[in-house]
Amino acid sequence: MAEPSPGVSALEAVTADWLLELLDLPRTCSVAFVTGAQIANLVCLAAARDRVLTDVGWDVEADGLVGAPVVTVLAGEFVHHTIGKAVRILGLGEARIMEVAADDNARMRPEALAEALSTVTGPAIVCAQAGEIATGGIDPLAAIADVVDTRRHQAPTWLHIDGAIGLFGRASAALSPKFAGAERADSWCTDAHKWLNTPYDCGIAIVRDREAHHRAMTLHASYLPKPGAARDPIDWNPEMSRRARATAVYATLRSLGRTGVAEIAERDCRMACLLAEGVRAIPGAEVCNEVELNQVLVRLHDPAGQDDDAHTRAALIRLQASGVAYPSGTTYRGKAAIRFSVANWATDEADVAETIEALSEAHTRWG
Ligand SMILES: Cc1ncc(COP(=O)(O)O)c(C=O)c1O
Repeated sequence: MAEPSPGVSALEAVTADWLLELLDLPRTCSVAFVTGAQIANLVCLAAARDRVLTDVGWDVEADGLVGAPVVTVLAGEFVHHTIGKAVRILGLGEARIMEVAADDNARMRPEALAEALSTVTGPAIVCAQAGEIATGGIDPLAAIADVVDTRRHQAPTWLHIDGAIGLFGRASAALSPKFAGAERADSWCTDAHKWLNTPYDCGIAIVRDREAHHRAMTLHASYLPKPGAARDPIDWNPEMSRRARATAVYATLRSLGRTGVAEIAERDCRMACLLAEGVRAIPGAEVCNEVELNQVLVRLHDPAGQDDDAHTRAALIRLQASGVAYPSGTTYRGKAAIRFSVANWATDEADVAETIEALSEAHTRWG
């Protein structure tokens, strides 16, 4: 709270300004420091729900959703599960999300979005993504913003970007063209505990429409200090009592500066490309994604020619047990794959070389 914790309020205000500058988003946006991208997505979509319903004359904060106009949520085929959960918590119905077709690298297709939106009459919320969990694919954000802008003339339409994985790429001059158009959205979520390498519990929600964000999150009680001019975290967050989690973001930004953040993002992307190159040189190994960011998706073909899924999964366990690297396993387009996410500030060429060797061994020592 602002009055009992003025230091935290001031620190949040400064960190919020730095983040907007670093990510080159409208400087007037409101910012919430939350546990992670799950809650950041929830906060952003709560603001979205408030705004699109307010614009059709419905006060969702006062009256809830009973009898409210239908709000349609649209998201790419490869939307992260946390969007579904946020939509569920907000009472908009996870199963009602309109799925929009994606391309080979799991990026939402803008023409498919335009087609889907043309069938929707009322308020709509479009969820785009900057960094798909398996491929790292970044939706074509400018083209998606064009589609949304056209639709805004017809009915309230909100564009949200889940940038949990990729948004900090905007700190780098070399990487930021990949995210062109992101600044045209209405809300953004990201995680400092990914590319910024802070400890866990450092998600960030950014909203262009401060009023909607405030209406969706604020809380007043007679025993609390009266609202004042200082930033009060209680106005922007779902929690009441909470730790001063912006401290870790503040300290990291203060220590790294823009150059340091850009360096981590650029190096991780370079290391991901290097890793992909090495994987392609292993006979029977396949890189399944276009490496756009720091994600590399690998499938291993069974040398016995029998079961690639089982072989990939078994090799993953061997690789994890080797202690060299700990990628996770996934299923992408129905096939088992190993998912490398190069996110650590310290990962270098030697780590990549060791990982390629360990992967090769896990692959060839099978059976
Ligand atoms: C695209 C995307 N959105 C949301 C999340 C959820 O993030 P968190 O675990 O910080 O809530 C993740 C996690 O990896 C993600 O990749």
